[in-house]
This record gives sequence, structure tokens and C-alpha cells, in this order.
Amino acid sequence: MSNSTETGETVLIKNALLYGEGEPTDVLLDDGLVAAIGADAAKSAAAETEVIDAAGQILLPGFVDLHTHLREPGREDTETIDSGSAAAALGGYTAVFAMANTSPVADSVVVTDHVWRRGQEVGLVDVHPVGAVTVGLAGKQLAEMATMAAGSGRVRMFSDDGHCVYDPLLMRRALEYSSSLGVLIAQHAEEPRLTVGAVAHEGPTAARLGLAGWPRAAEESIVARDALLARDAGARVHICHASTAGTVELVKWARGQGISITAEVTPHHLLLDDSRLETYDAVNKVNPPLREASDVAALRAGLAEGVIDCVATDHAPHAEQDKCCEFAAARPGMLGLETALSIVAMTMVRPGLLDWRGVARVMSERPAEIVGLDDQGRPIAVGEPANLVLVDPDAEWTVHGPALASVASNTPYESMTLPARVTTTILRGRVTARNGDVRTPVRSGGGQ
Ligand code: NCD
Ligand code: ZN
Repeated sequence: MSNSTETGETVLIKNALLYGEGEPTDVLLDDGLVAAIGADAAKSAAAETEVIDAAGQILLPGFVDLHTHLREPGREDTETIDSGSAAAALGGYTAVFAMANTSPVADSVVVTDHVWRRGQEVGLVDVHPVGAVTVGLAGKQLAEMATMAAGSGRVRMFSDDGHCVYDPLLMRRALEYSSSLGVLIAQHAEEPRLTVGAVAHEGPTAARLGLAGWPRAAEESIVARDALLARDAGARVHICHASTAGTVELVKWARGQGISITAEVTPHHLLLDDSRLETYDAVNKVNPPLREASDVAALRAGLAEGVIDCVATDHAPHAEQDKCCEFAAARPGMLGLETALSIVAMTMVRPGLLDWRGVARVMSERPAEIVGLDDQGRPIAVGEPANLVLVDPDAEWTVHGPALASVASNTPYESMTLPARVTTTILRGRVTARNGDVRTPVRSGGGQ
């Protein structure tokens, strides 16, 4: 892969718990790789090596986010590749997939290559462009997937996210093409005829509040349909932001049939339910909507069991004027990059549903495998790429939207005190974030 070259930084991580297991260990990083682990590490460290005291901290492979909205090009008033990369690095991410619903839409190699190149210039996280499945996300005509896949941004995931690829014949064709191209189709599962005017989960809360409802069947009917289309096309399908207990059951059923289907869940669907809507605060408006406590429990159990493969943020920055307005008029979506690890710690680790090795699986290894990244989600072992994150499991911090690195501040966790914090993120051996500060790379000549 044509990653930009980094400076030959060496870093010695002292006394980290690898995957939160065993005894504290030293890890030496050199030339972008894990160079030594254990007693050898400190011995081989050169004088100018940066030493990170990681006592009490857990070392994991860097996180990979399959679902990020970075809003560039087009809505730089809410996020840019620069600000979104900073948020990603602070959140422990070493790779993110930037969704195609930008303006212009990422339905051409011009846009997808720009996103990749700009991410490499910023240098804080690998920003992989997601290509649109259909031209203009309009659901009428397939975009030039092969051209985008062959560009310098090497698009490996396609999605009309924000919209469902609703036409079953078009979805079937997209799946057929995707298997010959070796790329992934990620579906925003929403039967649009069932969600006309919908702004909240269809259930007792929305009925009482007078909000138009988005039934579970709108998601589940597309999950079931796409599983069958993937089966017939001999292709893989990935389900974005699973939000219902029924989706967990359907994914489990499809896998049992030998169908190649994977699914992600967002941190907010692991924590929040529709009781949050009582205040009519549109910060809680999101697609798919916050559902009921029984769905939250099923999603947690599904993630713990591996039915749901991974956590993806669906980081969706929005301008204040698009959120601080009437609930029905507000845009759906919430920030997620900087809070994801803490929400996973709160909902999965603390209740004993996942250990830290499990966190590595759902936030790094599985997402990297699903999309076929060979330099991410790797074991922490000598000779492997040094894409890593250090987590302080005992830290607590209070979320304050304006203090986040994102341009927008629409976090649903405002003023909440959350457990666990990313202290250090390392991309190809270079520290990109440390104790809440982002470290922009220093380029040795040539670049911008
Ligand atoms: C996303 C956005 O704002 O782009 N919004 C959301 O509520 N999740 C689109 C999407 O992921 O569906
Ligand atoms: Zn979506």
C-alpha cells in the first residue's frame, strides 16, 4: 500500500499489559514495526528513543472504524479530514473508513482518491475512502466501482450509507460485481417505504411523544433480503449499524445457512435507548433510531457472542443549526470517534461481556479482516506493523462536546463521566496522540 513514509522514530513502551493479560512487558517500536518485546526491548533501545511509561495500561492493536462520516468535501463547517483525523487519533484509531455521503458524493475516483491523499497528508490515521454503490447515492445506476477500486485510494468498501440500496435488482448487481472485484458492500438497511417521515423508533415512547416511528421491520426486512441476495450472488454483505434484536437473530440465522454476512453495532446502540427522547433534544436523533432496552441487551449479547462482528462508530458530525431545532427537522447522527472505547468499556467490559482481548477483536481485528486490511488489526508481535493503542482502564473523564477535536459538538454523552481512556495512539511506529494531544507528523522536505 502506498502509505507515506514516516520519520525513523523509535519508541519504547514500558510495562504495558498486552491485551490486558499476563505480566507488564516492554515493547520497542522501530522503523514502523514492533522491533522487540520483553527483556530485549529496553536493551535494544537507542539513546534518543522516546520512552512511554505505560504502567497500569493496556496495549491493543490500533482501532479500525468501518463507519465514519468526515464530511469533506462539502460540509467542512461540521468536520474535515483534518479535524476528523485528530478525533480518530484521540479515540485510538489507526484506520477509518470515510463514508461516501459527501458533497460531491464519493461516487468517482476523483473524490475517493482525494479523500485518501488528504488523509495521508494529514498523517494521523489512514483514511480509507468508501465509494458510493450508486451514482449520487440516488439508487438508480451503479457507480464505477472498478475504477474507484483501482485508484490510488484503492476503494475496498462501497456503501450508499445514509440511504439504503433499496432496488433489489440493483443490490443484486452490486453484490455480483463486488465479489468479482474483491470488495465489500455495506448496507444501510432501511426499507424506505416503511420509514416515510419517521424520526424515532416505532414503539410506546414515540407514540406518547407524538413522533413518527421507524419500525424494526424496516431494518430487518432489508437484512433478510440482502442475506438471500448475497447467498445467490455468492457474495459478502456487511450490515451497517445493526439496531434491533431481530437483526441479531437474522444475522445468526444467515450465518448458520453458510451465507457470508457480517455486521457492526455502534457504541450508541450499545448504551442508549429511546427513553432518551423524553426531552425532545435532537442530539438523540440518529438513523437507525435509538431502540428499546431489550434491543440494547440483544446487541450487547450478539457482540459478546460474535454474531455481531465489530463496533463501528457511525461518527456523524452535524452543525448546531441542524441539531438545535425541532426534533422532526433535525438531522440524524451523533459524534462517536473520541468516546467509542469508553462506551465499549462501559457496556461490554465492565459488565463482563468482553475482556480486553475481546475489545481488540471487535474494535480492531474483525473490522480489519472484514474489509481486508493487511496492515491493521495484526497480532502484537515482533515484525508486525506498529499500529497500536494504549488504554488506561482505570481512568475516568467527563465528556464536553466543545472540547472534542471534531468541528461539531453533537455528542449524546455531554457531561457524562465515562470509564477508560485512550492515552496513546501509534500509527506505523509514530505517536499520533498522547494524553489528549494530537501530534501532527513533521515532514522531512517534499510534502506539504
Ligand atoms: C448519518 C449521517 O449523518 O451521515 N446519520 C446517521 O444518523 N447515522 C448517515 C447514516 O449513517 O445513516
Ligand atoms: Zn447509515
